[in-house]
Amino acid sequence: MTEIYDAIILGAGAAGLFCAAEAGLRGRKVLLVDHAEKVGKKILISGGGRCNFTNLGIAPDRYLSANKHFAKSALSRYTAGDFIALVDSYGIAWHEKTLGQLFCDGSARQIVDLLLDRCAQGNVTIKTSEVVRDIAHGDGRYTVSLTSFTAQAPALVVATGGPSIPKMGATGFAYEVARQFGLKVVQPRPALVPLTLAGEDLLFRELSGVATDVVARSGKTAFKEAALFTHRGMSGPAILQISSYWQSGEAVHIDFCPGHSADWLVEAKAASPKATIRQTLRERLPQRLADVLDEKLGLEGILAAQSDKALRAAEARLAAWAFHPNGTEGYAKAEVTAGGVSTAELSSKTLESKRVPGLYMIGEAVDVTGWLGGYNFQWAWASGWAAAQAL
Ligand code: FDA
Repeated sequence: MTEIYDAIILGAGAAGLFCAAEAGLRGRKVLLVDHAEKVGKKILISGGGRCNFTNLGIAPDRYLSANKHFAKSALSRYTAGDFIALVDSYGIAWHEKTLGQLFCDGSARQIVDLLLDRCAQGNVTIKTSEVVRDIAHGDGRYTVSLTSFTAQAPALVVATGGPSIPKMGATGFAYEVARQFGLKVVQPRPALVPLTLAGEDLLFRELSGVATDVVARSGKTAFKEAALFTHRGMSGPAILQISSYWQSGEAVHIDFCPGHSADWLVEAKAASPKATIRQTLRERLPQRLADVLDEKLGLEGILAAQSDKALRAAEARLAAWAFHPNGTEGYAKAEVTAGGVSTAELSSKTLESKRVPGLYMIGEAVDVTGWLGGYNFQWAWASGWAAAQAL
């Protein structure tokens, strides 16, 4: 027997749960389906288990997309303030950790419970452990064949996210649906992901566990945050952020001495002429990192023995140390997927396909990727909300 709904939403993650609840609360009869055995798995592990659910600094230019204007409409219609008000209405305590990032004081479970409660209020039917066998479209209706039943609706919302962290059940299913309906897909790639080092940068892998505040740059984009060396390369917030902008083959430039005056080594020579470069670096950086940088700089002897020119060259190198990542740690470690269903195919107001009426794409499945720090959940809420208003 075929079950009839107003909307079928595939994927019960952040975007799907929120969209289902909002549509349900607007009186729509909604079916929310997931192939996983439980909903909102990524929410549960997000923010170290405390869910960084939004950011006070939400702005469209903090999202990557082939169309940098696309996210504006949805982000302005459902804002961080709106989600904070919702969190407050559930009495969920939260705090700002850093850089506008808002986390639950308690547990990410509270956000999933909030979403499930809203779904219950909206009479959403939730089915887990259901694999989509087939999607057919005809006569203005989508017929979705699932493991244990078939459902039909005039609207189909794809909220199955991107392929980041496949071991959690993440898939590129949204791209398959897009291709089935002739929608273009912007080449997906791992983002917010650790970078791997090889070749001349190999020595830095010996610093595994060492962290320091840096400015990481790729092209014109820069992030001032912590970087962490790992046994495979580099991670930490500054690196995860810049990874989204980094293109294979390019260098990533690291300023190891952010905030230092431009001529700090020359000044150090005047203040402590008998100190070595190594000692001078050790005063400002973790010891193991200072030693590797000293080795790479190759300036032997005390500061007084160095010409100002040589010290200025060292300052310049330390302010823009060129790393040549040979890749990333891939989808297995990527917090999100950049690229995805092309925004050129979708209405920025409703997230509905321009060519295929009734087909919606929301959340991470779409070619909109936020910065680290609550930006991606806000996109999930905002795009889910926008679609729900049109269902
Ligand atoms: P999401 O991935 O949440 O949901 C997709 C759903 O679709 C899943 O439930 C999946 O099981 C289901 N699905 C997939 N394929 C399917 C198929 N073929 N059939 C049926 N169902 C299918 N962001 C942020 O803003 N703040 C944070 O703190 C964090 N922290 C964080 C930590 C970690 C470890 C990761 C991996 C990611 C984050 N993120 C984050 C990113 C954030 O989790 C992500 O951007 C959103 O969950 C995206 O929401 P979606 O609903 O689009 O996809």
